[in-house]
Amino acid sequence: MATVYFGTFVHSLGQTELEVMSAAVGVDSEGTIVFVEKDAASADEAARKHGWSEYSVTAPLDQATSFFFPGFVDTHIHASQYPNVGLFGKTTLLDWLNTYTFPLEASFKDPAVARSTYSRVIARTLGHGTSTAAYYATVHVEGTSILADLALEAGQRAFIGRCCMDANSPDYYCDESLESAQTATRAVIDHVRKIDPTYEIISPILTPRFAISCSRDLMAWLGKLAAEENLPVQTHISENTLEIETTLKMHPYADSYAGVYDTYGLLTNRSILAHAVHLTDEERDLVAKRGCGVAHCPASNSALTSGETRVKWLLDAGVKVGLGTDVSGGYTPSILHTARQALLVSRHLAMKGEEKHKLSIDEVLYLSSLGGAEVCGLDNKVGNFLVGKKWDAQLIALDGKQSPVDIFDWERGNHENLVAKWLFNGDDRNLTKFWVNGRLVAGTEFS
Ligand code: GUN
Ligand code: ZN
Repeated sequence: MATVYFGTFVHSLGQTELEVMSAAVGVDSEGTIVFVEKDAASADEAARKHGWSEYSVTAPLDQATSFFFPGFVDTHIHASQYPNVGLFGKTTLLDWLNTYTFPLEASFKDPAVARSTYSRVIARTLGHGTSTAAYYATVHVEGTSILADLALEAGQRAFIGRCCMDANSPDYYCDESLESAQTATRAVIDHVRKIDPTYEIISPILTPRFAISCSRDLMAWLGKLAAEENLPVQTHISENTLEIETTLKMHPYADSYAGVYDTYGLLTNRSILAHAVHLTDEERDLVAKRGCGVAHCPASNSALTSGETRVKWLLDAGVKVGLGTDVSGGYTPSILHTARQALLVSRHLAMKGEEKHKLSIDEVLYLSSLGGAEVCGLDNKVGNFLVGKKWDAQLIALDGKQSPVDIFDWERGNHENLVAKWLFNGDDRNLTKFWVNGRLVAGTEFS
């Protein structure tokens, strides 16, 4: 059934342009936005203007303290690591992987573990308004296929990545050989294609874990496959100084970490590079030239003391940037919380005398939605409320008994204020309804 959504809409039109509009938005039965009537007097008036006779109307109960916001895009999340959120002790990346991460991921050999964990991750991220997630699973074909099944069933847009790791990995958790990595990668691609042939909701993503854990032959094969089948790629880059040193030692022919990936054709306009904390100017320019996107993971970079990514420095060079929770390097499955962290980390850079790195509220909300969609190559489809895009939308209500945000009378109807309060104090309790591709997928109604 077609629906007219009526109320206040907050969305990004670009890096620094957060638009707040009062409108009626018409969504057809396929979940596509077919009209946006700004300042319409009512949903019915807008529907009449477009010749609609059969439709339902959805409007928040309290217009003055509610708004629609696009679904969040999590450009980097390890679904399999969700049980470990908050567990990192005093480790940094490489010892954290060995101590906490690989043992947990190895347990996904058991499909029952995969099923129960992945259903909780999907429910939780949907509860936090994540409409699109670029997931890392594990090396296991069955478990990774279960993640694909569950995301499709729940209606969450997802990139499904089977981790490729055929080198320098523990004996108990790795691809046994180049050939077995290739067969397993193919099997997951085939499974995803079988259950969602047009990749409307889920799609496969090639996932060399990071350069340290992949043989040169495996990276070369993945780069070739990405080009031949126009597949997206996700990996980690330049997260931690010891990781960078180790990578450069392993690849003495390359002049940089980004150069290693470039050698194997892994830097494309469909590549999502997580972290990018310590890139050099030359690497940043190469990443921009190749059209790659960066998944900025501020909660993880703080927790694992990896460093502070210079987001403005990337954006200024034309690099696409979105946000990643990086569960469980990052401790939160919430992109709203991650946007808050992105803003604060940028202010830490500013406190160190680099004022130009400061991000605004509008900018971090751009990263959380349209920026993430650009990184995922989905900005023609989602990321804001333009005609022709899909209805991926959160209905946020701030004033209610269970709301973590206190709203004062003088701010009712002042949506710029409300958005700031939501960013800093809001959480999943404020998500009253949530649609992906026009389908209602989550919500906790209280207002
Ligand atoms: N580098 C290689 N694997 C990982 C991982 O699982 N998490 C993070 N944050 N970095 C990585
Ligand atoms: Zn990661």
